[in-house]
Amino acid sequence: MAKYLVTGGAGFIGSHVCDALVSRGDSVVVLDNLSTGISHNLDQLVGNPSFDFISGSILDENLVGSLVASVDHVLHFAAAVGVFTIVDKPLESLTTNLRGTENILEAAAKHGKPVLIASSSEIYGTAGSDGKPLNEESNRVLGSPLKSRWSYSEAKAIDESMGMFYHLEKGLPVRLVRFFNTVGPRQVGHYGMVVPRFVDAALHGTPLAVYGTGNQSRCFCHVYDAVAAVLSLIDSDVAIGQVFNVGNDVEITIADLAKKVISSLGSSSSIEMISYEDAYPNNGVGFEDMQRRIPDISKIKSVIGWEPKLGLDAIIKDIAASIGHN
Ligand SMILES: NC(=O)c1ccc[n+]([C@@H]2O[C@H](COP(=O)([O-])OP(=O)(O)OC[C@H]3O[C@@H](n4cnc5c(N)ncnc54)[C@H](O)[C@@H]3O)[C@@H](O)[C@H]2O)c1
Repeated sequence: MAKYLVTGGAGFIGSHVCDALVSRGDSVVVLDNLSTGISHNLDQLVGNPSFDFISGSILDENLVGSLVASVDHVLHFAAAVGVFTIVDKPLESLTTNLRGTENILEAAAKHGKPVLIASSSEIYGTAGSDGKPLNEESNRVLGSPLKSRWSYSEAKAIDESMGMFYHLEKGLPVRLVRFFNTVGPRQVGHYGMVVPRFVDAALHGTPLAVYGTGNQSRCFCHVYDAVAAVLSLIDSDVAIGQVFNVGNDVEITIADLAKKVISSLGSSSSIEMISYEDAYPNNGVGFEDMQRRIPDISKIKSVIGWEPKLGLDAIIKDIAASIGHN
C-alpha cells in the first residue's frame, strides 16, 4: 500500500484516479483549489481513513512542499483547462500550468518522490488534421504565441520538457501521459466537451448543436480506460523517463456522434447545424476546429500492454446514467 498526492483530484480524471487508488488499497491526499473541480466528485471517499482532501493551490510552494514530503508518489493532474478558462484568464492559466508544474517537480526532486504528469494531445496543435495518427515523436503545428488559444498547448509541452529534464539531469522518476479526448461520468459540458453536451441535450429532448459541417471527427476514450492506463504506468518501472499517448483510436465524425447519441438514448431531439462564427462569437478561440486528431497508441500497447476496452456505447450509457443520478 502506498500513499499518493493527487493534484487536481477533485476534477474529472483526477477523481476517478482517486477512486481507483483507494479501492485497490492505496491512500490518497488530494490537493485542489476547486476552480474547475467539484468537491461532490469526491463525496464517496469522504470519511474513508485512506482519503484526505486539502483545499489549496499548486502555486503555494510551502503547501506543495509539505504535501509532497508526506507521500510516496505524486500524480499531477491540476491544471487550468477548458477553452473558456484559457481564453478568459490567459495569464492566470499560463501561470498555473507552468509555475504549478514547476513547483510540483521542484518539491518532488527535493524529496525524491516519483511524479506522473498529465499532458495533453493539445500539444500537437493542428498536426494530425490530415488523419495521420499522432505518435509520441510527431511534430507539432502551432499558431502565434500571442494568441491565447495556443498557450495551453505551449504550457503542456513545456511541462513535458521540464519533467523530462528533471528526470535526465536530477534522476527524478518522471512519467508523462499525453491524454487524448477523455470522456465519461463527472465531465462537465460547459467547457465545450461535445459528448456530455450532446448527451445532456438528448436526455432533455433539446436540439443537439453540431458546429461547422459536422464532418470534423474525434476519437473518444472512456475515462475508466484512461484510469487503467494511469495505474499501469505508475506501477511500471519501464515507464519512467518516457511519454505515452493515452486515448482511443476509433474515429467518429461529430455529425455521426450526434446521430449515435440520439439513437442510443432513444431521444426525440433534433440536430441543429451551427456555424463556427455563431458558436464562437470571439472567433478563433475554439478548440473544436481541428478536423481530425487520431492517437497512435502502439507505444503504450507494446510497452505496458494497455489498450482501451470501452467504446462509445459504454461512454454514452455511463454519461447518461451519471447525469440521471445528479
Ligand atoms: N479530459 C481530457 O480530455 C484531457 C485531455 C488532455 C489532458 N487532460 C489533462 O488531464 C488533467 C485533468 O483534466 P480534467 O479533464 O480532469 O479537468 P478538470 O478541470 O476536471 O481537472 C483539473 C483540476 O485541477 C484543479 N486545479 C486547477 N488549478 C489548480 C490550482 N492552481 N491548484 C490546485 N488545483 C487546481 C481544478 O479545480 C480541477 O479539479 C489536466 O492536467 C488536463 O490538462 C485532460
